[in-house]
Amino acid sequence: MPRTRGAWTPRRAPATVRASAELELPTQPTRPGTLITIEGIDGAGKSTQVDLLAAHLGARGHHVVATREPGATPLGHELRRLLLQSEIALEPFAELLLFLADRVEHVRRVIAPALAAGAIVLCDRFSDSTIAYQGYGREADVARVRRWDEESRAGITPDLTLLLDCPVAVASARRRHATDRYQSLDPAFHQRVRDGFLALAALEPTRVRRVDASRDVAGVRDEIERVVGTWLEERRR
Ligand code: TMP
Repeated sequence: MPRTRGAWTPRRAPATVRASAELELPTQPTRPGTLITIEGIDGAGKSTQVDLLAAHLGARGHHVVATREPGATPLGHELRRLLLQSEIALEPFAELLLFLADRVEHVRRVIAPALAAGAIVLCDRFSDSTIAYQGYGREADVARVRRWDEESRAGITPDLTLLLDCPVAVASARRRHATDRYQSLDPAFHQRVRDGFLALAALEPTRVRRVDASRDVAGVRDEIERVVGTWLEERRR
């Protein structure tokens, strides 16, 4: 199928459409809860660490909701399959919008209600992944990706982000088989994504904490428990 390239020009929506309740996104809810996101390149070991951290915090009496992007809602489940497993060619802007559609549903149906209920929400990937992959990885206009992302998350921002960081070679050795659209991209793409994540960490050092993910699972787990434990303690004061 030929890929047609052409500039996409945003159009101003007519006032009647802008006012439609169906397009309204929830604003930042009262937030007794905490949003912790876990980020990193493919093969950094995020999913394992999300499970371990959820068990650790749960055993200490916290109400924990572990979730992930893309794929945590019924629409998200379909989008995940389309984004990761299908071979349909996607224009970069279409790809961005599909990840953001997943986020709109996720924020509205899972994250915002859990935060309103006082949970610690552990989210395996969130906005930083969009900025790192669709912005830095795809070499797009990062400021523009940020603006679109901002629309999708309706004012919800992570309180703490753990960036599981390791060299691309270490992560790809762990992945062994490239099984999806992103895992099969070349090392230069993953290097740009890693550099993007590190740039985001440098921009927001208070929110984004880098964790050395080249160590073994137990070593990474121990550091994450220390960072999160200290952070929760300081927040209580
Ligand atoms: P994972 O759930 O196994 O980490 O796979 C999700 C893939 O989707 C991963 O390669 C990163 C990619 N991704 C983006 O490109 N942009 C995004 O906004 C998100 C959430 C994920």
